Amino acid sequence: MQDHATDTVADEAKGGGGRQYAEDHAFLRAPVDASRSAEQAGAEHGVKISTTDLNIYYGDFRAIKSVSAVIRSNEITALIGPSGCGKSTYLRALNRMNDEIAGTHMDGTVLLDGVDIYQPGTDLVTLRRRVGQVFQQPNPFPMSIYDNVVYGPRLQRRLRRDEADEIVEQSLQGAALWDEVKNDLRKSAMDLSGGQQQRLCIARCLAVNSEVLLMDEPCSALDPTATFRIEELMIELKERMSIVIVTHNMYQASRVSDRTGFFLLGELVEFGDTPQIFEDPRDERTDAYVRGRFG
Ligand SMILES: Nc1ncnc2c1ncn2[C@@H]1O[C@H](COP(=O)(O)OP(=O)(O)OP(=O)(O)O)[C@@H](O)[C@H]1O
Ligand SMILES: [Mg+2]
Repeated sequence: MQDHATDTVADEAKGGGGRQYAEDHAFLRAPVDASRSAEQAGAEHGVKISTTDLNIYYGDFRAIKSVSAVIRSNEITALIGPSGCGKSTYLRALNRMNDEIAGTHMDGTVLLDGVDIYQPGTDLVTLRRRVGQVFQQPNPFPMSIYDNVVYGPRLQRRLRRDEADEIVEQSLQGAALWDEVKNDLRKSAMDLSGGQQQRLCIARCLAVNSEVLLMDEPCSALDPTATFRIEELMIELKERMSIVIVTHNMYQASRVSDRTGFFLLGELVEFGDTPQIFEDPRDERTDAYVRGRFG
């Protein structure tokens, strides 16, 4: 599926000079404050994750700038914004995946159910079980479908065969994959289609009862049909978990998400209910982006 915003920018780059573009978009450099809307949201609904004054650095470079935001329970939150604006960096902060990247450091707080996930003594394995992640490229383990699903639960405890069977069936049912694979559970996960592999990765999160699912452009490698299935699945899954999705696809963000945050140059410019962000943005930079005037 095409991202109309990206197309527009490509067209603009072909036609106009960079200087003209910079002048037209001078407003992009204006100071911002998105924290108010985030706090208001938290007051009204259950808060699953909140970040306060979050700064994330790669060496000296501040990739995330004072981001305060609330991820609500049982909602889909979409993060949008041009390439390089910090969406993945922000997402990775929510289960401490940035810790794995040498040279990063952060300040500010990230609370999961009110508890600081960066406090000393946090068990990262438990954290990443509670806050699971699905990547742009599906990354099943090179083993059978069955073993992929029980891999996480088996790290936690010994499973009887019937318990393992039950987890596999329930998780694959939950990820809307069961009917397609129930007769092939011993087949290698690597032989599934991209869309099936992505649903298998979601099943792995369900198998360990993840409470939050972080999805970084999960459909960008999928065709429209597989994309649609993932979107339908997300809407089903939000009944039992909170979902945060990074997407370049404006249609996808507006179709599936309850709340949308617009990032630009490391700042959270605007964060609000999805219809408001797309139909009545308060910030002119959000307006320009969602209308495809820059990407
Ligand atoms: N490992 C890294 N080391 C140094 N700088 C990094 C690293 N990862 C990201 N950055 C920089 O941090 C900024 C934010 O990057 P990030 O990947 O979070 O953006 P993004 O919004 O996810 O972009 P995209 O839409 O292209 O995926 C960019 O300027 C990027 O160059
Ligand atoms: Mg990214």
